[in-house]
Amino acid sequence: MSTTIVIFGASGDLTSRKLIPALYRLARKNRLPDDLRVVGFSRTPHSHDAWRQRLGESTAQFTADDFDPDAWREFARRIYYHAGDILQADDLARLGQFLTEIEDEPPGVRIFYLATAPQYFEPAIRHLGAAGLSCPGDHDVRIVVEKPFGTNRRSARQLNDTLHACFAEHQIYRIDHYLGKETVQNILVLRFANTIFEPVWNRTYIDHVQITAAEDVRVGRRGAYYDQAGVLRDMFQNHLLQLLTFSAMEAPVRFEADAVRNEKVKVLEAMRPLAPDEVARYTVRGQYRGYRKEPGVSPESQTATFAALRLDIENWRWQGVPFFIRSGKALACRTTQILIQFRRPPHLLFETARNERFQANRLLIQIQPAEGIQLYFQTKVPDAGMQTRLTNLDFRFREQFARSLPDAYERLLLDVLAGDPSLFARSDEVELAWGIIDPIIDAWHSTGQPELHIYEPGSWGPEASSQWMTNHGAEWFDLCPVLK
Ligand code: BG6
Repeated sequence: MSTTIVIFGASGDLTSRKLIPALYRLARKNRLPDDLRVVGFSRTPHSHDAWRQRLGESTAQFTADDFDPDAWREFARRIYYHAGDILQADDLARLGQFLTEIEDEPPGVRIFYLATAPQYFEPAIRHLGAAGLSCPGDHDVRIVVEKPFGTNRRSARQLNDTLHACFAEHQIYRIDHYLGKETVQNILVLRFANTIFEPVWNRTYIDHVQITAAEDVRVGRRGAYYDQAGVLRDMFQNHLLQLLTFSAMEAPVRFEADAVRNEKVKVLEAMRPLAPDEVARYTVRGQYRGYRKEPGVSPESQTATFAALRLDIENWRWQGVPFFIRSGKALACRTTQILIQFRRPPHLLFETARNERFQANRLLIQIQPAEGIQLYFQTKVPDAGMQTRLTNLDFRFREQFARSLPDAYERLLLDVLAGDPSLFARSDEVELAWGIIDPIIDAWHSTGQPELHIYEPGSWGPEASSQWMTNHGAEWFDLCPVLK
């Protein structure tokens, strides 16, 4: 029985940067089904060999030290190319014929991967249906949808409706590549494979949670897309809310797609969307100086390249514990981290060391690039009476595990091949996430509040962001990771 992955948008960046390198690495680790074929579909005509050659060059570039020309040649024999236009139903019917020519009998698993620009998602889904390639309910046909999944709740719902007309929910794999990151999955392991964290993981012990996804890069070549999207659509609706739900969810009954996703959905349901008159108080927005001169960006752009939000989860575990989440481009460094800030002890017995101020316990989960976990606690300063100072226990993935961390797409592609959607977003989850983000975007547009602050590239965002945290009784933990 054969397995085929068809990549729509085969000439795009994602295919050459991520998908083919991930498949090639999996092939080298012998993780792929023996009979896997990969078919690229795009408008430009290429022969199979010309496409293999092109991908060989890009894969050599993106896998660097891992690239072995012999292993590539072996893998490339499984790659095919079929030219066609996704907007032409006939071209998809021809694709169907091509697949039957190259696949064994009986056909096995078929995976359609939508790596195109998002405006082609819906026509592609409809034409797959019209060409008889989607088979609702059929376990052996799967569709992978890249981000962005809609631009607001309404368009996400429409895309879901189009998908559901041709595919059953269990056949749909909505990508959020953050869920493919080892360190994101490790949030669940940290919380639910240990006993010492869960008893204190609640409002009794936790003061607040901070989630930061900082990038030092600017918008680069993606100015035209980014100027339409802005930071809330680009990072918050998907990646940051995924980090938040993993940090806040209850333990699922088992590690299975629906059990996990049910718990994540409950967190989103417990988050009250902000009312228009709350948005000025609960959000900060900024734009880096020079953004308006980036290629593709409007010179009068009001698009936020930085945002910070306070979200509250109204349930028994989290009532009164604010979740502060922030993300931006052109910041001080690249770091994604979750900080669990614990409460201060109820009564301080000891003196804090000179030039130090008392800091309560915190747990820092570093998602990237210094993947690891640090636990901060007070320690007696030797030979200084009973003075104390904050110190930490420092766990690093790269020190403990000799293996390098795989790219997120390796795990996600393996899961699609195995038919396991646990690490993919479900339709209700995506719509609920938009339901939290939409009112903020709407209020920013309609009220112009809070003001769009200009910040210096290389900073931690607008200064207003620190003041805002102080107003909420907290302080950002601005830490650039130290790579060991
Ligand atoms: C993408 C965003 O989804 O995630 C980009 O569109 C962003 O703007 C990227 O740079 C961040 O991903 P990572 O894996 O580098 O943290």
